[in-house]
Amino acid sequence: MGRVAVVAVTVTVAVAACAVASVVVGRRVRSRRKWRRVLALLEELEEGCDTPVGRLRQVVDAMAVEMHAGLASEGGSKLKMLLSFVDRLPNGSEKGTYYALDLGGTNFRVLRVQLGGQRSSILEKDVERQPIPQHLMTSTSENLFDFIASDLKEFVERERDSSETSLPRRRELGFTFSFPVKQTSVSSGILIKWTKGFHIEDVVGREVSECLEQAMARKGLNMRVAILVNDTVGTLALGHYLDADTVAAVIIGTGTNACYWERTDAIIKCQGLLTSSGGMVINMEWGNFWSSHLPRTMYDIELDAKSPNPNDQGFEKMIAGMYLGEIVRRVLQRMSQEADIFGTDPSKTPMIAAMHEDDSPELAEVARIFREVLEIPDVPLKVRKLVVKVCDVVTRRAGRLAAAGIVGILKKIGRDGSGGITGGRSRSDARMRRTVVAIEGGLYTSYTMFREYLHEALIEILGEDIAQHVILKVTEDGSGTGAALLAATYSSNSVDSVQ
Ligand code: BGC
Repeated sequence: MGRVAVVAVTVTVAVAACAVASVVVGRRVRSRRKWRRVLALLEELEEGCDTPVGRLRQVVDAMAVEMHAGLASEGGSKLKMLLSFVDRLPNGSEKGTYYALDLGGTNFRVLRVQLGGQRSSILEKDVERQPIPQHLMTSTSENLFDFIASDLKEFVERERDSSETSLPRRRELGFTFSFPVKQTSVSSGILIKWTKGFHIEDVVGREVSECLEQAMARKGLNMRVAILVNDTVGTLALGHYLDADTVAAVIIGTGTNACYWERTDAIIKCQGLLTSSGGMVINMEWGNFWSSHLPRTMYDIELDAKSPNPNDQGFEKMIAGMYLGEIVRRVLQRMSQEADIFGTDPSKTPMIAAMHEDDSPELAEVARIFREVLEIPDVPLKVRKLVVKVCDVVTRRAGRLAAAGIVGILKKIGRDGSGGITGGRSRSDARMRRTVVAIEGGLYTSYTMFREYLHEALIEILGEDIAQHVILKVTEDGSGTGAALLAATYSSNSVDSVQ
C-alpha cells in the first residue's frame, strides 16, 4: 500500500473512531441529562412529601379543630363524626355464641365467637375469610348481599355445634360494615357513600341492615342484625374488652379511619343526647379529613381526579393501602415519560411493601416484581434503588400523617399530655394517664417500614416522656370479633342467644 493510501485509511479510521466516540459521548451526555432530570423529580417529590414535625403539629391541630367542628353541627366539617349509638362497651360479662359478618375491604369474614363470661376469655373463635369477587363490588345490592348471605348460611350450618339437635332459635349477628353510615340506631343505618372501590348505586341512601336481613331471609337464614358497626368501632370494642384503658381505635389497611370514646355533652350537634354511660363511640370517618397543611403533590392531585370519588377521602388517599402503590406508580410513570428509565411506562400498580423492604444487595425482589408483575425486564440496579427511594418517600409521609391523626384524637380528648401542664410544671412532668389505641389493618400490621415511620413520628410529636404512656395495641380480627362482642352486649335476649 502506498503512503497516501495508508494515510487515507488512518484518517478514515480516525474519523470513524471520532464519530463513534461522539455518538457514545452524546448518548452519555443525554443519559446523564435524563438521569439528572429523574433526580430532580425525586427531589421535587421529597420536598412535596416533606413532613417536618412543625407541619405534623399543624395537622394535629387541624384534626382536633375539625373534630370539634364535626361534633358541633351536621356538615360542619369534612369530618363527619358519625354517632355509632354504641354507648357501652363489652365489659367481660358477655356469654354465649355470637356471629359476626365483617364486610369492608377486599375480603369479607364470617366469625363465630364463643364467650365465657369473663374478661379476656374468648373460648373459641372460628373465622372464615373470602375474597369478594371484583364484579360484585360494582354490581347490585341484591347480588352483593345474596352472595354474602349464602356464605354466612353455609358457615353457620357447617359450624353448628354437633350437640345441637334442631335448628336453634334466632341467632344474633354483629354486622361490621366498613363504610360511612349514618346510624339510626345501634343496629341500623343508612349508607352515605361507598369508598375503597365499591360502587353499588342502589345501596346509597338505603338501610344496610335491612338489605342484609332481606338477603338472609331469601336464603332461609334465621338471623337478626343485633348491631351494625363500623370496623373501627368493632376494633375499639375488642380493644376495650382486652384492655380497659383503650380509648380509640384506628384502621390502616385498604382504607383508613378512626373512632374514639366521646362524652355526650361534647356532641353538640345532638342536643340532649343522654346515655347511661355519659359517652358514646364516634366514628370519625377520618379518611375524609382535609387541611391545607397536608403535603399534597401533583401525583395526589392526579390520583384524586382520576378516582371514582374526586374531592373525597383526601386523607385516606395519602395514607391507605389502596392508594400508596398508585401514587408510586404515578411517580415512576412521570420519571419514565421524562427520562425513559424503564423503556416502557409502568401501567400496573407495584407491590410497594415488598419492594421497599427488599434488603438484598442486588434488590432482587424489586427486579422480580418489575419483571413478573409490571412486565418490565432488565431494570438496572441504580433504577431499582431509585424505585425503593420513591416507595420510601411515599410510605414515610403516610406513616407520619397517620401518627399526626392519632395525636389529633389524643389532643381532642386531652390525652396528648398538653392538658396536664399546671403552674410551672414542664410538659414532661405533666401527669399522663396510660392511653391505649387499638389498631388494625394490613398496612400497619404487615408493613414494618410504615409502622416504624408512624411510631417515630408519634414520639417526635409527643416527645418521649408523653409518648411512653401511649400504647398502640394490635388487635386480631377486632373489627369482626368486636362486632360479635357488641352483639352480645346489645343482644335483645342474651339468654336466648345460642348457648
Ligand atoms: C371507610 C371507613 C372504614 C375505613 C377502614 C374507609 O374507606 O370510609 O368507614 O372504617 O375505610 O376500613
